[in-house]
Amino acid sequence: MKVPFYTATREYKNLKKEFEDAVEAVLDVGDFILGRSVSLFEENIKNYTGAKYAVGVANGSDALVIGSDILGFKNDAEVLTPVFTFFASSSCIAHLGGKPVFCDIDEETFCMDMHDAENRMTNKTVGILPVHLFLQSADMNACMDLAKKHELKVLEDAAEAFGMKELYNGTMHMAGTIGDIGIYSFFPTKTLGGYGDGGMIVTNNEEYYLKAKSLRVHGATKKYHHDYIGYNSRLDSLQAAVLDVKLKYIEKSIELREKHAKQYRSLLKDIPAVKLPIIKTKGKEVYYVFNIQVEKRDELQIFLNKKEVGTTVYYPKSLHEQECFKYLGYKKGDFPVAEKVCESVLALPMYPELTEDEISYICECIKEFYKKY
Ligand SMILES: Cc1ncc(COP(=O)(O)O)c(C=O)c1O
Repeated sequence: MKVPFYTATREYKNLKKEFEDAVEAVLDVGDFILGRSVSLFEENIKNYTGAKYAVGVANGSDALVIGSDILGFKNDAEVLTPVFTFFASSSCIAHLGGKPVFCDIDEETFCMDMHDAENRMTNKTVGILPVHLFLQSADMNACMDLAKKHELKVLEDAAEAFGMKELYNGTMHMAGTIGDIGIYSFFPTKTLGGYGDGGMIVTNNEEYYLKAKSLRVHGATKKYHHDYIGYNSRLDSLQAAVLDVKLKYIEKSIELREKHAKQYRSLLKDIPAVKLPIIKTKGKEVYYVFNIQVEKRDELQIFLNKKEVGTTVYYPKSLHEQECFKYLGYKKGDFPVAEKVCESVLALPMYPELTEDEISYICECIKEFYKKY
């Protein structure tokens, strides 16, 4: 049996007619840049997330840069952000001349440790950039308490968190809608993934919304009238049309991911070398990634590869050890939890179209590997 780590073609085949009709509708009209399908998709994102405003942009990384620009995460300002995440969560600050101040992570959720964050504050700290990683949101209650106490802005990186919820102030909120600004990525592998790049900025603040709308079109508020030095970052109409089809089925996709996670859990629970994901959120987790922590991770990955089971390591190196961040002056040992997680974490296939037989096969392979030890 061959199980790819990720495939887009199964879903495409299941919903071929709907995707083709949606793409054809855009082609028929020809409004490829910020066309009708983009406005419609933005409306649907507002309805789904409960955010007051939504602005489609070219990708999640741009959404983070634009959000950082709006919130003043630039020009030597310091921003607290986790050391264990995808690169774009920090490069957005550095791109604008701000300083990412790395924080260690919670050993169980892999999200930012808010106590560590508070200890790393200085009088230059202007914001927090929490990341909702893999399957659950960062502790937004602690994050917002810290932000309120020290008057900091909050940019939520919800690139991986579409559909996740967080119990905040006694009510459920969609991940990405609690801070000042939130962002989503529609990179193809994401829970809501397009057929190419795409991203979204959400906010409840009208001023931020208007600025985001302007920044995505070179800082223009009226065509050829530029109030800011902005970006060229627009969600394209074909992606919006595809994403809108997928959005209709998002709850079903999330349910299927949950079902697969249950099966993984029941088949892997008795292997002592395998640590299963721990859920701490009081909101709702969404299995964007099913990560296990294992002994002999690299050997297991090679073994699974030989068995034609695709896996990925998110992330093999934490950000303080990246060459480009050497100037920040961190060294090995500064973030012990993140460093440990980098050595043991392994992501197994997780997409709605996985079959029960495939998951059983993957788990049998893992059992077979550990029998030798
Ligand atoms: C946590 C996180 N932040 C930001 C991004 C960037 O999103 P994009 O790939 O759409 O630029 C990603 C996705 O790859 C991500 O996982």
